[in-house]
Amino acid sequence: MSVTKVSVIGASGRMGSEVCRAVEAAQGLELAGRFDMGDDLGDLAGADVVVEFSVPDASAINVAHCVDQGVHVVVGTTGWGEDKLADLTARLEQHPGVGVLIAPNFAIGAVLMMAFAQKAAEFYESVEIIELHHPDKVDAPSGTAARTAELVGAARAQAGLADVPDATTSDPEGARGGRAHGIPVHSVRLRGLVAHQEVLFGQTGEMLTIRHDSFDRVSFMPGVIAAVRKVGEHPGLTVGLEHYLGIA
Ligand SMILES: NC(=O)c1ccc[n+]([C@@H]2O[C@H](COP(=O)([O-])OP(=O)(O)OC[C@H]3O[C@@H](n4cnc5c(N)ncnc54)[C@H](O)[C@@H]3O)[C@@H](O)[C@H]2O)c1
Repeated sequence: MSVTKVSVIGASGRMGSEVCRAVEAAQGLELAGRFDMGDDLGDLAGADVVVEFSVPDASAINVAHCVDQGVHVVVGTTGWGEDKLADLTARLEQHPGVGVLIAPNFAIGAVLMMAFAQKAAEFYESVEIIELHHPDKVDAPSGTAARTAELVGAARAQAGLADVPDATTSDPEGARGGRAHGIPVHSVRLRGLVAHQEVLFGQTGEMLTIRHDSFDRVSFMPGVIAAVRKVGEHPGLTVGLEHYLGIA
């Protein structure tokens, strides 16, 4: 059986260190290199695949380096806006064999939660997203909440639904939270939490709640390892693990 060499960028971080352990424990994978802030990425320790969990400011630069080296990349770092995705797509056109997966959430249950929310979206007048994370997270809303809002917003638009009803005219403290793709999003930061999300759908006389909880970062590892095994079969840019799992 051939061995896939994997390097990890952001290897000293909470997610990166968990990925290193998961790669070392996985059959057919070999941990080739660990890179963190300030390290010279060079030839990425000869990796076939890189897993990138760093910080939003650094991720695009790190991924560009990998693509230029002809190495496939599995990206978990959040904060990829439209501009950065467009730049990456253009760069991948210069390297047609290289695959990059950017997934806002590698937990299988979170991928299912997003798919279920997308399916429910057209049937409800109201929807709000509450995402809850540990207080050391630097960006809000979470990538999962932003992606869920994008999917739900697109499904509502497709179904011709109006904006979510909301009579608020005074909100000096910002108590109604933010909006992503027209969907209200509330970000909770609480010591003790890892990564959690609720999508609330409301209609006169009923409510549907879709909730997912990651209690431990190991919950992301089956998705990361599956992505490492499959990214080489998917040249170009893929956004969302659902496309590798047949859920999309
Ligand atoms: N997609 C998912 O399923 C998922 C799950 C959890 C977290 N995340 C995201 O993953 C990212 C990392 O989360 P974390 O909790 O591990 O953060 P963390 O702060 O624990 O780790 C980030 C690591 O990146 C390193 N780093 C900073 N700048 C760097 C650079 N220029 N090059 C290389 N490494 C650099 C830091 O030193 C640190 O070790 C965040 O964006 C977070 O939102 C995604």
